[in-house]
Amino acid sequence: MSPRVVAFGVHIADALGWPFTVIPPGQELEFIQQIKFTAAGTAAATSVVLAKLGIDVAAVGKVGEDSMGDFLRSTMAGYGVNIDHVTTTDRAQTSGSLLPIRPDGSRPALHVVGANAVLSEADIPWELVECAEVFHMGGAFILPAIDGAPMARILRRVKELGLTVTMDFLMSRRDDAQELITPSLQYVDYLMPNIEEAGWLVGTDDRTEIIRWLHDRGVGTTSLTLGGDGVSIAPNGQSERVLPAFAVDVIDTTGCGDAYSAGLISGLVDGLDVYQAATRGLACGSLVASGLGADSGVVDLAQVEDFIAHHPRHPALAMT
Ligand SMILES: Nc1ncnc2c1ncn2[C@@H]1O[C@H](COP(=O)(O)OP(=O)(O)OP(=O)(O)O)[C@@H](O)[C@H]1O
Ligand SMILES: [Mg+2]
Repeated sequence: MSPRVVAFGVHIADALGWPFTVIPPGQELEFIQQIKFTAAGTAAATSVVLAKLGIDVAAVGKVGEDSMGDFLRSTMAGYGVNIDHVTTTDRAQTSGSLLPIRPDGSRPALHVVGANAVLSEADIPWELVECAEVFHMGGAFILPAIDGAPMARILRRVKELGLTVTMDFLMSRRDDAQELITPSLQYVDYLMPNIEEAGWLVGTDDRTEIIRWLHDRGVGTTSLTLGGDGVSIAPNGQSERVLPAFAVDVIDTTGCGDAYSAGLISGLVDGLDVYQAATRGLACGSLVASGLGADSGVVDLAQVEDFIAHHPRHPALAMT
């Protein structure tokens, strides 16, 4: 069956340990409660949560010819993601992160870019994209063969085919951020970075200014995730609404943004309005925060809908 969503971009094998309090000195051994390997990254984790929500999704990405790549592909396939276009390369190892999670849910991260650097325009299965409804560009700024002109070319073609374009960032502060992303923004219907990343791009932490800057460059709707404070939604030409997150006991926030993206995309595909779809995204994000790793928390759509109906939310944050 042809997928309704194509999730293109970053695939990472995460290794998480919890709770992490200390690096033992020398060769000493420290016992912790849980170690987990998960499929992560702005394309892989988002497609896993989309599949859990019952959406037909094809992931497109690159992994190495190694056991981490096998793990990623088989894990994603196990959740029902179409992985026919998660292909291998002998030029790099599978991307990976080591994530020691502190008791408060925060974490240092050690990351290998690996095969994500090899993913290129030539890897896009256009015959699949043509039949889909949403194209998710998962991971602007960490796809060196895509960022910049190739990304704009891809998204222009995707828009010409009539799909909805969603995009998430995976970035740290960098000087060329505006130059790299500006040509692509006019093609983005829903942009869903976290507020910190959006602030690094625009060069301010003033949310009103960030939203204006993105709207001026043609973004359809900004969806800026605010961690435990929820999400700011602003359709171009309309004022911002902040929707509060759900109150959960946080174990680990790895993959919350990816789950948020999946919830929002699935809502759009199911015909919800953007605020209802974002609420589904918030529920998925908060559920992922309540467990260890990007694949925790979310079971299926019925569970997420029940959670939305019955679970308390944090107090609403003031609008800008
Ligand atoms: N402390 C929290 N309590 C409740 N929900 C949370 C918390 N942190 C994150 N979330 C949920 O997850 C969503 C996305 O979180 P966040 O803004 O941290 O994304 P992110 O930084 O992009 O995450 P990622 O690590 O996946 O890139 C939030 O909008 C919220 O719904
Ligand atoms: Mg994110």
